[in-house]
Amino acid sequence: VAEALKVHTGTMERVTEFRAMQALSRAWHREGKRIAFVPTMGALHDGHAALLREGARRGDALVLSVFVNPTQFNRAEDYHAYPRRLERDLQVAEAAGVRCVFTPDAGQLYPPGHQTWITPGPLADRLCGPFRPGHFRGVCTAMSALFNAVQPDVAVFGEKQYQQLLIVRRMVKDLHIPVEIAAHPIVRDADGLALSSRNERLGPADRAAALTVPRGLEAARQLYLSGERRARALWSAVTRTIGAAPARPGGGPSIRLEYCHVCDPETLVDVDRVEGPTLIAVAAHAGSVRLIDNMILGR
Ligand code: PAF
Repeated sequence: VAEALKVHTGTMERVTEFRAMQALSRAWHREGKRIAFVPTMGALHDGHAALLREGARRGDALVLSVFVNPTQFNRAEDYHAYPRRLERDLQVAEAAGVRCVFTPDAGQLYPPGHQTWITPGPLADRLCGPFRPGHFRGVCTAMSALFNAVQPDVAVFGEKQYQQLLIVRRMVKDLHIPVEIAAHPIVRDADGLALSSRNERLGPADRAAALTVPRGLEAARQLYLSGERRARALWSAVTRTIGAAPARPGGGPSIRLEYCHVCDPETLVDVDRVEGPTLIAVAAHAGSVRLIDNMILGR
């Protein structure tokens, strides 16, 4: 099956069918290979390249998936506007030493008659949860299917989507999926903006506004380093910085804060004081782009 369905691009294979991916993974496991997996929605940037490097370090056979998962988008416009450039992604993957790029389509991942969902618990109700109903249900359902296809020994997730990382970790524990979930720190542009495939939709004015997010987090970190431990004071440092973003060229706020939480990095429950490792997580909208960013203090 694998031979019939895979397309060779140099030494890297592209697989589109679940059965072919499973056959390839089984063959690798029989050879004693450790499979490392980086799941993505494509439009790869340097942040993904860092995840791929981490994957290459942790396994013998590196698999990248590119699947723009329709069920994790809240608005059809956002799903359709999501950048897609597979040809370039394949080049990035090959250069990064990927052995197999798995690119199922939505009809493969959600077979006709699909009706089984994985609904995460309270971790999904916090931070992004109230603003993106069903998002993490879509992520968990797609991820469990991708894990069943790729059968990785280790999967690498970026800390930019910190809540996603925690929820996926919880899911693999709860469902006894035999995969180690590894985290990679946020990768930032030189100006501090956390890399995201959506950043390319930021115009210059939106980008200037978006930069107040990492600056706000940095302001909170500086306050923490100077001894401040009250969560409210750290929250104020972030929200004041974002609130001081330059106005839009036509007037009016250039960035809209969705949330800022100072919380426990395991439970995502808000804290009053920083007494151990503490997560500051932010979501905001600049132009048509929703940004998320975070920082962990005290770890
Ligand atoms: O982080 C992403 O790119 C996506 O949420 C993921 C993990 C590939 C699931 O679709």
